[in-house]
Amino acid sequence: MLTTRFTELVGCSMPIQQAGMGTLAKPRLAAAVANAGGLGSVSSYGIPPELVATLLDDATRATTGPVCANFINMARQDAGKVREGVAVAAERVPVVDFFYSDPDQAIVDIAHRHEALVSWQVGSVEEARAAADAGCDFIIAQGVEAGGHVRGTTGLLPLLDAVLRAVEVPVLAAGGISSGRAMAAVLAAGADGVRVGTRFVAAEEAEAHPDYVRALIAARAEDTVYTEAYSTNWPDAPHRVLRSCIDAANSVEEGEIVGYLEAYGTPDPIHRFDCTAIDRSATGNIAAMPHWAGQGVGSVRRVEPAAEIVQQLAAEAERLLARWSRQPAE
Ligand SMILES: Cc1cc2nc3c(=O)[nH]c(=O)nc-3n(C[C@H](O)[C@H](O)[C@H](O)COP(=O)(O)O)c2cc1C
Repeated sequence: MLTTRFTELVGCSMPIQQAGMGTLAKPRLAAAVANAGGLGSVSSYGIPPELVATLLDDATRATTGPVCANFINMARQDAGKVREGVAVAAERVPVVDFFYSDPDQAIVDIAHRHEALVSWQVGSVEEARAAADAGCDFIIAQGVEAGGHVRGTTGLLPLLDAVLRAVEVPVLAAGGISSGRAMAAVLAAGADGVRVGTRFVAAEEAEAHPDYVRALIAARAEDTVYTEAYSTNWPDAPHRVLRSCIDAANSVEEGEIVGYLEAYGTPDPIHRFDCTAIDRSATGNIAAMPHWAGQGVGSVRRVEPAAEIVQQLAAEAERLLARWSRQPAE
């Protein structure tokens, strides 16, 4: 058993948090991860509070394990709606998780008032200190290897090292962790767990478009790129995607609609270089839409149930870590 301060705090049996991933991370995926012993995550931002409630109720009905609600990019949304969404979430799930906005004690307090724990994903040691000062219960250090939006510019191991020295609360590591080997490395370095995105995009229960999943399965770390290409509707927000989708988008005329999405029922046009999650509802030129991918993409080899991903990561990490515990100390 990989028991850590994180598993004890949150009440899960595996030190693995599934990342919120826009419309790819709906209740089915969160519940599957939670049923397998990890912390599942439901994307809860940019949607009305009533829908936050429905999604989280769907997730908690499908598991007895812990689920968290993920909010990002709060600074660009209506502050009242964000506060309402956070309160609705904190009434329903044991953890409310934030990313890509400066840590904010007022928001943390809302979640705490409803007795939820709060986590904040950060990209620098300064941001980690700010999250701890704002009252967060655990922090996720995101290295530049990560898929999706990338908060900082430092590699995971040096960032983790600095964050672990700077804060007292449990710290998870994120960015390029798609194998038990990578998980063992960060646990050995002192992390209390891992946050995994890219590997779960290819989970059976994720909502990712099959063409996107096929591209991930074919890709290696070298095929990912840190860029600001997909910024038309969210500027100044660097991210990591497969290089191939940028090439495909570059061959489309500027301003052109590349396809449509119907994630929550209404069809929305996707313009060239729009930032969006390509779920199964996407139609059109899928190859030109953002193929978010972290540097651990080489370990995404097939579509498999989320439970197998959780078990395989944890079992491999545990086996590797046991090698060292058998060595007599000098
Ligand atoms: C497809 C995808 C979508 C993502 N969307 C979100 C999101 O909505 N909210 C969030 O907090 N992080 C999001 N992230 C970033 C993750 O929180 C996490 O930092 C990242 O997945 C870790 O790196 P990895 O993808 O290499 O595992 C996303 C990542 C991916 C791959």
